[in-house]
Amino acid sequence: MTDSQHLYEGKAKILYRTEDPEILLAYFKDDATAFNAQKRGTISGKGEINCGISSQLFSLLAAQGIQTHYLDRPTPNSMRIRALQILPVEVILRNIAAGSLCKQTGLPLGMKLDQPLVEYCYKNDALGDPLLTRDRLLLLELATPDQLEEIRRLSLQINSYLSKFFASCGLTLVDFKLEFGLDKQQQLLLADEISPDTCRLWDNSTTDPNQRVMDKDRFRQDLPNVEAAYQQVLQRVLATTRCAAPLDFSDTVGDAGVK
Ligand SMILES: Nc1ncnc2c1ncn2[C@@H]1O[C@H](COP(=O)(O)OP(=O)(O)OP(=O)(O)O)[C@@H](O)[C@H]1O
Ligand SMILES: [Mg+2]
Repeated sequence: MTDSQHLYEGKAKILYRTEDPEILLAYFKDDATAFNAQKRGTISGKGEINCGISSQLFSLLAAQGIQTHYLDRPTPNSMRIRALQILPVEVILRNIAAGSLCKQTGLPLGMKLDQPLVEYCYKNDALGDPLLTRDRLLLLELATPDQLEEIRRLSLQINSYLSKFFASCGLTLVDFKLEFGLDKQQQLLLADEISPDTCRLWDNSTTDPNQRVMDKDRFRQDLPNVEAAYQQVLQRVLATTRCAAPLDFSDTVGDAGVK
């Protein structure tokens, strides 16, 4: 990649232009950051692992009719994606209380939520990605009411598919972050990445609060074997996608929403 193709460098990925203005190349780095980039480090092999996991999950979601930016994976560390106008909203889906939800509400870590919780944060590093109310999000015109409705519907659907998929991997999808963007036709597509950097995943084979952590919380909390946990998630995702009997998602989503 040349300097002239370099478009943007974030904390986890570098975006490059391609010869097609509607297509970008996202290069996944080994760099790791936490607590609004106050903690920095490297997780060796992370770029390739996260690129691999994201590719598999985007393909799985596409097969379920969810439109994503993912096109293909020309190298282990990079994916070709549709160039989108990213909405400055981070959508957080929660199935189990953890992280900032516990900190801000006092709910105990590990409490199963009766129904998935959808939250929105302002994607703005300078402000520390603050939690938004629906009215603040609309006030700031970060999305239209129709887009917000669509984002909520899609996010619940994605949560439903991914929760079931990860359960087959022996993992609990505790919570995760999504980003959406608009293409030239103003269509809403799922963007960015889905990986142990952006999901909380707990290993179902143990209840030990340190051992069960299979995601970036290992890095945040200085737990050992961060790389091994990421690698383990990749191996389980690959094994589950390869398994002969495809997963049956028919009971996960109905017209009325997520069961
Ligand atoms: N399809 C896409 N089109 C355009 N930009 C995208 C697309 N998918 C993801 N991005 C953007 O790529 C950027 C780089 O990703 P990375 O994860 O490194 O960013 P970040 O450091 O987490 O976030 P940011 O730099 O936006 O605060 C992000 O700003 C993300 O929103
Ligand atoms: Mg990111």
